[in-house]
Amino acid sequence: PGHWPGVIEAYRDRMPVRPDWTVVTLGEGGTPLLPAPRLSERTGCQVYLKVDGANPTGSFKDRGMTMAVTAALAEGKQSVLCASTGNTSASAAAYATRAGMTCAVLVPQGKIALGKLAQAVAHGARILQIDGNFDDCLELARKTTADYPAIALVNSVNPTRIAGQASAAYEICDQLGRAPDVHCLPVGNAGNITAYWKGYRSYHADGLIAGLPRMFGFQAAGSAPLVHGAPVTEPETIATAIRIGAPASWKGATAARDESDGKFAAVTDDEILAAYRMLSAEEGVFVEPASASSVAGLLQSHGDGSLPQGSLVVCTVTGHGLKDPDTALLTAPEPEVVPIDPGAVASALELV
Ligand code: F0G
Repeated sequence: PGHWPGVIEAYRDRMPVRPDWTVVTLGEGGTPLLPAPRLSERTGCQVYLKVDGANPTGSFKDRGMTMAVTAALAEGKQSVLCASTGNTSASAAAYATRAGMTCAVLVPQGKIALGKLAQAVAHGARILQIDGNFDDCLELARKTTADYPAIALVNSVNPTRIAGQASAAYEICDQLGRAPDVHCLPVGNAGNITAYWKGYRSYHADGLIAGLPRMFGFQAAGSAPLVHGAPVTEPETIATAIRIGAPASWKGATAARDESDGKFAAVTDDEILAAYRMLSAEEGVFVEPASASSVAGLLQSHGDGSLPQGSLVVCTVTGHGLKDPDTALLTAPEPEVVPIDPGAVASALELV
C-alpha cells in the first residue's frame, strides 16, 4: 500500500546499485497480476496475466532501463545507445530524457510499430534506421559502444538491465505468496526469460519461495532460433518486437529451459493473432502481438498436453496494445455512422 517507488527502491537489496547513486526512475514496476477467468476456464488451469504493458512507457523494458540508465549516469556516460525492435528504444529515450542524457536508437528500417516510433520521437531520441534486421542493429550498437566509451549500451546484453527485469519475478512471488507452476513468456532476444529465471532462482536461494516454475518460452514460427537450435538469418513475423534471428542471451535462455524442466516452442502468426484478439475481446486486456505469443503458447501447450491440468500459470504480456495500432485495425470494419437518435444507438447495441 502507499506510494510505489519504482523497482530499484522496491527491491534495492537485490539491485546492483550503490547508496550514493542518483536513481533514474519513472515509477516502473508494480504492475497488475490479473486473474484471467476466460483463459482459466479454457485450459483448466489457474491463469494470471502479468500485465507489463502497464509500465510507464508501455512495456517491461522499463524495469531494466531504470537500472541501466541509473548505472550509466553514475558511471559518467553522456549518451545511451540501443538496438531495438521498438520497445527498448521507447524506454531508453524516456529514461535518458529523465537523466538529462542524449539518446540514439538503432532500429530496423520500416519494421517497428508506429506507437514505438512515436515515443522515441516524442522523447527526442535520434532515430537511426538500418537497412537490416535487429541482429544487425545490435552488432552495430556493440561495435559503436566498444569504440566510444562515453556512450552506454543499454541493451539486455548489459547485466544491469537483466537485474532490473528480474523485479517482475519478485513481484509475482510477492503477489502470489509462491512461485507459479509454469511461467509462459514471449522470447525474442531472450533477455527477459533469462532475467525471470535469475529472479526466481534468487528468491528460491533466499528461501522466499519453496518451488520454482517451469519456464515455457515461445517464439514466432518465422523467428524461432531457440526452437530450431540455430540462428535464423532472415527472421519474419507479424510480431515485429520478437523478429530476431540471433538472440544475445542464448545461453541464459537455454539454461532457464533446462534447469527448470521447461521448453521452447514456436507459435505461428495465426496463433499469435488469435491469442491477441482473444485477450482483447474476451479478457479485456489489449496487448501488442508479440505479447500475445505467451498466451498463444499457453493455448498450444494446453492443446498438445504439455500443460498439466490445474497448474498455476503466469503469462507475461510484455507490451501494450497501443504500441501497434496498425495491427489492431488490420481487420477492423469502418466505424459505422448513425443518426443523432437514441433509438439508433440502442438498436446498435442490441445487435452486438
Ligand atoms: N515482448 C515485447 C513486447 C518485446 O518488445 C520484446 C523484445 C519481447 C517480448 C522479447 O523479450 O528480447 O527479452 O526475449 N523487444 C526488444 C526491443 C528486442 O528492442 O524492444 P526478449
